Amino acid sequence: MFLNRLKALLLPNRPGPIHPADQQRSLESEISDPRLATIVWRKEYLCGHPRIDEQHKMLFLIGNRLINAGRQGHSKEKVERLIGEMSQHILDHFCSEELILVHAGHPLTQQHRDAHQCLQDRAAEFSMQYARGQVSVEDIVSFVAHDVIHGHIIKEDLKFAVKALA
Ligand SMILES: [Fe+2]
Ligand SMILES: [Fe+2]
Repeated sequence: MFLNRLKALLLPNRPGPIHPADQQRSLESEISDPRLATIVWRKEYLCGHPRIDEQHKMLFLIGNRLINAGRQGHSKEKVERLIGEMSQHILDHFCSEELILVHAGHPLTQQHRDAHQCLQDRAAEFSMQYARGQVSVEDIVSFVAHDVIHGHIIKEDLKFAVKALA
């Protein structure tokens, strides 16, 4: 039942390529639907730059897929793939976020760069812990909710909300 709902959102039953606007609607519904997302996206998390906000939404999307895969007891291979996807997205996102902030003339602090490095290190450590079988479902939820969402978006990035990027 749950899986069918998820598949319906991810793979719309229609021929041809998915229009970007539909893809966007699908992403919005998945990250804002409490039945699908443990960590629900809220508009209060918007920082005001469309590209950064889009990438943050992707962190919610991948993070919730990772939590769901852990909760549903999916294969180690699948969970590792999602952890890899999350780590790669974190890396790509930090690169583009730092470039955007510098380009916008934002005084990107060393403290913010250090926070990015810290989360990248944490993601690498988490990945190794999972490979060694040292990660529980609660640890997955904590990594996504505490380290990635709270530690990065809420605690750090909301400091440079709309006014800094306008
Ligand atoms: Fe960010
Ligand atoms: Fe950041």
